[in-house]
Order: sequence, then structure tokens, then C-alpha cells
Amino acid sequence: MKIIHTIAELREELSAYRHPAVVPTMGNLHAGHLALVRQAKPLGDVTVSTIFVNRLQFAPHEDFDTYPRTLDADCAQLEAAGCDIVFAPKEAEMYPQPQTFKVHPPTELSDILEGHFRPGFFIGVCTVVLKLLSLTQARTALFGKKDYQQLMVIRNMVKQFAMPITIIGGETQRAEDGLALSSRNGYLSPAERAQAVQLSATLRSIVEAVRANPGMDAAALARLETQAMQSLSQTGWRPDYVAVRRQADLQPPQAGDALVVLAAARLGATRLIDNLEI
Ligand code: PAF
Repeated sequence: MKIIHTIAELREELSAYRHPAVVPTMGNLHAGHLALVRQAKPLGDVTVSTIFVNRLQFAPHEDFDTYPRTLDADCAQLEAAGCDIVFAPKEAEMYPQPQTFKVHPPTELSDILEGHFRPGFFIGVCTVVLKLLSLTQARTALFGKKDYQQLMVIRNMVKQFAMPITIIGGETQRAEDGLALSSRNGYLSPAERAQAVQLSATLRSIVEAVRANPGMDAAALARLETQAMQSLSQTGWRPDYVAVRRQADLQPPQAGDALVVLAAARLGATRLIDNLEI
């Protein structure tokens, strides 16, 4: 496996390939990322993973400085998973000048849910993903479904810019108790880690309630959302949202739509997100 830090070297290395399959990451890898790499393997003639903690998608009060940088451990895991090339640029390589050209996704996709609570987040994500997909000449790119809205926004960006790239969503990987794997789980204290299972359990109870009553109207769905927020709050969480939306565009659902329930909540200083398709 080659570990590359510069764009020039990346271009040179990729010139031998026609169909890179790419897994963009911010490092601090877990089994969810490695599952994406294994899924990518048969989909291209070279498997590339990028590791770059992208300042543009962090608000000033967020954890950019403390986000774990674990390049050596990440590379060892990527090699074991069958990755061929790791592109891990320094910030000065990705952003040699301030990145003033940015991708602004449409507000109806990006100002709701995560975008409402993290203004500018999807501008940062789209800008870096566009750049990474261009640099790696991706023909297939894989993103985890845990970041459901991110996956939807990226799919739409690639479609509207007519980029010749197939976007694939990888299933969320979970710990035995149901907690969705995330680099930020490492911030949880042992007590918080034990409690964190409540988030996925809350989502599962909504899935079960909706499946048991397939004709639920908007008011009934709203009651489920409110009850879920209240029960998380009562046990010490600070929920940002629990929302049942339609899978296609994350707008409020109408009868017959395929649904997904999404949630974001803080436990102590850690903000966790999760979702389940219904
Ligand atoms: O999901 C992530 O790790 C990041 O948002 C991504 C897609 C690598 C862009 O920085």
C-alpha cells in the first residue's frame, strides 16, 4: 500500500489506473470505514482511501483541533483491509490558498436537520468532497449511511455536476449493543458509552411503532418525535432533533413514502448522530 501526501505524487501514481474506487475519510478509522474499503475493493481497479481532517466543515466552536489524528494506526488498518493507496495530504497541500471557491448545496437539502444545527457544514463537506473526488479521479466513491444526509447531499451534487462517479452508501456498522460506530464514540466516558445505546434504541422503537401502524399521519409521527426527544432529555441527553422523514429528500413525508428516522443528540460533550430506514 502506498501512502501519498502530495497531489503531484497522487496524479503520478493514479496514471496507471482507469477506475479508482475511493473511500473519503477524516481518519481515526473504525470498522465502518474498513467495511467501506472492503466493499470498494471489487468495484474498481485500484482502491484509494483519503484521510484529511477538513477544517472547512467544522464550526469555530467544534472539535477541529482535538479531532483524533491517528495516521499510523489508520494506515495499518487500511492495508489489512486491502487498500492500495492512501492519500493523506497536509492542510497546505489541500488548501494552499484560502479556499474561496466553495460548493453551496441548495438550502432545502442542506439547511435542514444537520445543516440547521451545523450551519455551513455541508458547504465544507461538498467543497472538500468535490476536490477529493477530482484529485483521486474517482469513478466509484463510497460513504457511510450513518451520515445519511451527507450521503444524500453528495449524491445530488455528483448528479447535478454530471460527475462520472457512482456513489455508493455503505450500511451503518454497529457495536453489539446497537451503538452506531463513529470516530466521536471515542470521546465518551465509560458511563456515557454505556448510556449511548439509548440513541439507537430510541430510533428502533420509532421504527417498530411506524411499522405497526403503516398509515400514521403527520400528527402521529410528530407525537412520536416529541416523545422520543422528551425521553432522551429525561435521561440526560440534549437532543437536537428526532425526525421521521422521507428517504428520497429528507422532507416531511407523505402517505406511501419510504421513510427514515434520524436523530442527533449530545451526551455530555459528545454529539452523536444515527438513523434507521423504516
Ligand atoms: O464523513 C466524513 O468523514 C467527512 O465528512 C468526509 C466525507 C470525509 C468529508 O470530509
